Amino acid sequence: MPKILIVYYSRTGNTERMANLITDAIKENNIDVECKKVENTNPKELLDFDGIVVGSPTYYGTMAAEIKKFIDDSVTYHGKLEGKVGAAFSSAAITGQETTVMSILEALLIHGMIIQGDSGGQHYGATTVGKPNESEKKWCQRFGQRIAELVKLIYR
Ligand SMILES: Cc1cc2nc3c(=O)[nH]c(=O)nc-3n(C[C@H](O)[C@H](O)[C@H](O)COP(=O)(O)O)c2cc1C
Repeated sequence: MPKILIVYYSRTGNTERMANLITDAIKENNIDVECKKVENTNPKELLDFDGIVVGSPTYYGTMAAEIKKFIDDSVTYHGKLEGKVGAAFSSAAITGQETTVMSILEALLIHGMIIQGDSGGQHYGATTVGKPNESEKKWCQRFGQRIAELVKLIYR
């Protein structure tokens, strides 16, 4: 049975709300999912999952230092995450969410992970301005559903 990890940092709760919405959407698609704060996650745990979804608030147009440190610490497992499904999401106050998502995806690609874009939704990953509004909640659900479907396709 494939398993997905959602690992995120959130100081004021917006990215956490996204993480919870994405977790629920993955569960609804019958895939096991664990949702963890980055502070409570050891990079070694990445080895145990088929899909890895990373969430961060936008800080100066890129990921928060806490997420960057987690990614840098994952170098210990460089080469061992090849072929896992990867995805990223971000919340910002105004703008910069997409550059944040892309900065995370760059690292996941360097790990050899598989990333799917979205031609009919938020192209790079789920994003919000502040607390998710009704339409952003739907984007988070779509994002989670698509990750679950991709993981099923690859690891069934
Ligand atoms: C250090 C710092 C840098 C930030 N940089 C940006 C930024 O570049 N663009 C932006 O729109 N919001 C920026 N913000 C606002 C946060 O991205 C925004 O409040 C986000 O929703 C917080 O997510 P959280 O509730 O999960 O902590 C910044 C906030 C902090 C604390």
